Amino acid sequence: MSPPVREMRVGVVGAGLMGAEIAFVFALAGMDVLLHDRDPAALEAARARLRLLLERGLARGLYTEERHATAIERIRPAADLAAFADRDLATEAVFEALDVKREVLAALGEVCPETCVIASNTSTIPISTLGAALPADRRRNFLGTHYFSPVSRMRLVEIVPGFDTDPEIVGWTAAMLESAGKQPIVVKDVAGFAVNRMLHAMLIEAVKLVEEGVATPEDLDTACRLGLGHPIGPFALMDNVTSSLCLQVQALLQDSYGERFRPPALLKQRVAAGYAGGRSKPGWLRAPERISER
Ligand SMILES: NC(=O)c1ccc[n+]([C@@H]2O[C@H](COP(=O)([O-])OP(=O)(O)OC[C@H]3O[C@@H](n4cnc5c(N)ncnc54)[C@H](O)[C@@H]3O)[C@@H](O)[C@H]2O)c1
Repeated sequence: MSPPVREMRVGVVGAGLMGAEIAFVFALAGMDVLLHDRDPAALEAARARLRLLLERGLARGLYTEERHATAIERIRPAADLAAFADRDLATEAVFEALDVKREVLAALGEVCPETCVIASNTSTIPISTLGAALPADRRRNFLGTHYFSPVSRMRLVEIVPGFDTDPEIVGWTAAMLESAGKQPIVVKDVAGFAVNRMLHAMLIEAVKLVEEGVATPEDLDTACRLGLGHPIGPFALMDNVTSSLCLQVQALLQDSYGERFRPPALLKQRVAAGYAGGRSKPGWLRAPERISER
């Protein structure tokens, strides 16, 4: 397969929080992008959000008029997956549900050309389990590309090969991501991959420190920012991604690794009491810091 170039054609399925910004990242790099969602309103909302992101990025000097001003025009909405018949890379970022992802991957396997690399942005479903949705001869071109939110700001992508992924495809995908300004690392297909295992070990301990009355969430965030050099503290992070999502991930990690990932009782209690954070609920901090607005 030829090395990645600006003319690469990318397709993204799912125009939610992650998919929209994945499309944006490739469009910023000059690539031709198709964005599909089964909900036309999600496509509309994605375009409006990306326009704002672009404007803000241009105003802050993150992007330049010369290179990036036309990025949104390079993202074309696709009403039907049939439009993905000429793509070099197709990434799914639909709901985190095995049956939904299986259906989308099977459809991509049918419509995308044989050479197309098919990727999943799953956070929790094993890549080889998802690969089973594709015909056996397509699995060499299938892998996980796990992005981090907000995708346009977080440079890391975990590349997760499945049982059948061709190493050449891993290399191609890494080069493709690098040409879109990302820094990929290759990680084995284990529950939580690498980053979520490290992150949740810390989040669990942070909540336990509060449970034991050792320090307040505010002070522990300060400790992580000023003592460990983290850009954001664990409680601000939980308020952004929501404690309910953290609870879900920890339950899955506990299932794979046992007691060390048992979600703390206080986290369960707060979620059950409606203190999950996010845009609509109170969280750990009185004045949550929005990562997307930094
Ligand atoms: N949110 C995060 O911080 C984060 C981080 C890393 C990975 N992920 C993963 O990324 C994926 C997407 O997460 P999100 O937060 O963007 O979700 P989201 O709910 O914001 O967006 C999902 C989108 O997929 C669309 N969709 C659902 N089923 C579809 C189908 N069959 N065909 C086409 N479109 C469909 C929905 O309409 C929605 O717009 C999930 O697998 C999630 O685990 C999320």
